Amino acid sequence: MAEDYEPTIIAFVCNWCTYTAADLAGTSRLTYPPNVRLIRMMCTGMVDPKYVIKALLEGADAVLISGCHPGDCHYINGNFKARRRVKLLKEILPRFGIDESRLRLTWIGASEGVDFARTIKEMVSEMKALGPSGLKEQMVL
Ligand code: FES
Repeated sequence: MAEDYEPTIIAFVCNWCTYTAADLAGTSRLTYPPNVRLIRMMCTGMVDPKYVIKALLEGADAVLISGCHPGDCHYINGNFKARRRVKLLKEILPRFGIDESRLRLTWIGASEGVDFARTIKEMVSEMKALGPSGLKEQMVL
């Protein structure tokens, strides 16, 4: 595997918790790899499974969905909807030859900038070990 391989991670993050944690990580000058592209959503419950599949098909090596801890969702149960969708996606992805570890769901609260930085570091490390998804190259559109 090429040593210079840098995975791309698309992160759908909830405005109220994980986006704020990512902001806190930045203002706290915590370092984490620049491989992540944040997409701010009002709630993880708004992340349509199609967004995840589209991201993977269009070149993302991994997708992170991250929002409020259970009980803290500003829309009451959006994060539980996200959890059910991720469970189903993890069952479906391997049927398309996609390793289920390329999708991750986490709860990272607004004050948990350290956890956000750690999560990104872990994901980048895991994806480097797993290698490129190669899905985009396999797609014949
Ligand atoms: S508002 Fe954060 S997960 Fe719903």
